[in-house]
Amino acid sequence: MAKTKTAFFCQNCGTQFPKWVGQCSSCKEWNTIVEEVVQKEDKKNWKTDKVAKQANKPLRVSEITQEKELRLDTKDQEFNRVLGGGLVPGSLTLLGGEPGIGKSTLLLQIALKLPYKILYVSGEESQRQIKMRADRIQPNSENCYILTETKTQNIFQQISTIEPDLVVIDSIQTLHTDYIESAAGSISQIRESTAELIKFAKESHTPVILVGHITKDGTIAGPKILEHMVDTVLQFEGDRNYVYRILRSLKNRFGSTAELGIYEMQGSGLREVNNPSEVLISKNDEDLSGTAIAATVEGMRPLLIEIQALVSTAVYGTPQRSATGFNAKRLNMLLAVLEKRAGFKLGAKDVFLNITGGISVDDPAIDLAVMAAILSSNSDIAIEKGICFAAEVGLAGEIRPVQRVEQRILEAEKLGFSKIFVSKNNKIALKQSGIQIQKVSKIEDVVAHLF
Ligand code: TYD
Ligand code: MG
Repeated sequence: MAKTKTAFFCQNCGTQFPKWVGQCSSCKEWNTIVEEVVQKEDKKNWKTDKVAKQANKPLRVSEITQEKELRLDTKDQEFNRVLGGGLVPGSLTLLGGEPGIGKSTLLLQIALKLPYKILYVSGEESQRQIKMRADRIQPNSENCYILTETKTQNIFQQISTIEPDLVVIDSIQTLHTDYIESAAGSISQIRESTAELIKFAKESHTPVILVGHITKDGTIAGPKILEHMVDTVLQFEGDRNYVYRILRSLKNRFGSTAELGIYEMQGSGLREVNNPSEVLISKNDEDLSGTAIAATVEGMRPLLIEIQALVSTAVYGTPQRSATGFNAKRLNMLLAVLEKRAGFKLGAKDVFLNITGGISVDDPAIDLAVMAAILSSNSDIAIEKGICFAAEVGLAGEIRPVQRVEQRILEAEKLGFSKIFVSKNNKIALKQSGIQIQKVSKIEDVVAHLF
């Protein structure tokens, strides 16, 4: 009998070792090395023979005929946008996200909406469970086939009888192939199953979407190699206590990674949010102190968000600072700048900061709005309606320019804002605009204008 080949893999990072060790030298985790069968003796793969017979020839770039790029319209504007215009035939897309964020809902929803034949393979839920969910979203779909299966060979068998135009696998961690002996979800199973799916996708020109679980530190579970193997890596994120979800692309061989999709989780599935700024700003008629609107850019999309601050006298000796959706270190820095450069005594005050809608923003252009919200809460004077901000604040208290300022100004104008605060040093290429552009260079200027 021929020897089966085995190797040792770190279950945390996927590093391969020739022999067992106690600690992974790559990720420094202990006790994560497991022996896995790399190759069984009679290895056969999806249409192995056929592949061997068709060897590719090298061609000059000019000789390669370019067909018009065909994309499968997913009938979901946000999903299409993040993919760069739809699914590319033969592509593998990996969708990652925390448990319960809505990955299965999003994909089932797309599968139910499409007029093509779709095979939705689930290794996590039963057909009846999926049917219950489908009834909430869109009950009458004739094109979506549900299969509960975890063995890749059986899945391929069903694929050859149904011949779907799109295959969805929920999730890659539940798959196992006969050619590898280790348990489902182990590194070599994931790698081998993905490899088989890639081969299938590339040869049949069928797009495949995989769901991937993420680990506690937020990366997609399984080897990093999984992300290298697929064409597109999407991440579905958001705060489970809020309704908004953001779909981001971390890697895209067919489009820009700067695109962003926004959804709202409702009782009947996910609703596309085509104009996010409108939903993220509360429509309060009263003037409330402590809120300021920031014109930010997420990916390529301008987005107006509301920042709320609460400044109150500290009850305990050390004042508390807490921020939701904003970097806490940056908040401390901004508070120090306010104290030092603008003479505000915030040292004995508790400061709480919140970005509404449960989204988190790391665009430095929201600095000025954060400061304005803090100052407004501190003095208990509301910022006039119709004012928004787009500038970074430096350590010297200077108001710094931000990128894509025109896009921010246009979005603010579109939403009916009357005045936007930007840095004096920001070059603005706009000829004319219906919004007043207030240029400021120091915090004192802003305070003089606002309060
Ligand atoms: P799910 O798609 O199962 O998450 P994942 O596959 O990422 O683990 O989503 C589960 C959550 O979505 C669950 O908490 C209920 C909620 N949900 C709704 O609010 N409305 C709906 O129509 C559906 C189907 C789910
Ligand atoms: Mg799921």
